[in-house]
Amino acid sequence: MTAIEIVQGDITREHVDVIVTAANESLLGGGGVDGAIHRAAGPRLAQAGGAIGPCEPGDAMATPAFDLDPPVRHVIHTVGPIWEGGHHGEADVLASCYRRSLQLADTLGARTIAFPAIATGVYGFPADQAAQIALATIRATPTALQRVRLVAFDEDTRKHLQAAAVRTD
Ligand code: APR
Repeated sequence: MTAIEIVQGDITREHVDVIVTAANESLLGGGGVDGAIHRAAGPRLAQAGGAIGPCEPGDAMATPAFDLDPPVRHVIHTVGPIWEGGHHGEADVLASCYRRSLQLADTLGARTIAFPAIATGVYGFPADQAAQIALATIRATPTALQRVRLVAFDEDTRKHLQAAAVRTD
């Protein structure tokens, strides 16, 4: 049984096997949570990402986590949808980000994983809808992971995740 935990904090401080970053297709790093993870992991993360990218929206690719401390085994780079009003398949792409990241974490033998609120920052996905998609997809995806941590950077995101967790129970 996979435990889903909703926390508020900085994902670069998570004690897990895998940290997921909300990347852009180049996997070379950017701002937001991607910038924070790249800063914490060091320049080798962008080198490793650049070597395996580009990554299609909705897909997920793994690299080592390099200098992240607490030590993490892998960073999974996933590319969320850019919000264009909700009628361009954005929900399906976001669901795929969570599904493919869980599937990839399983192949890596991970037991614990931390997700940010993918696509809800620069990419503009409404946080309430994104939270619903995250919880529903995680609950619907078979996985050997023991713990899935959803890390909200702010109180508003945490409230949306908590509300979604109740609604999809
Ligand atoms: N820990 C946890 N969550 C964080 C952190 C952090 N240190 N920093 C930011 N966040 C949160 C944001 O508050 C937001 O809720 O991550 C969520 C995702 O926001 P973005 O990082 O902007 O990601 P996204 O909306 O998917 O846009 C991706 O932005 O940074 C670029 O290279 C990235 O082009 C890509 C785009």
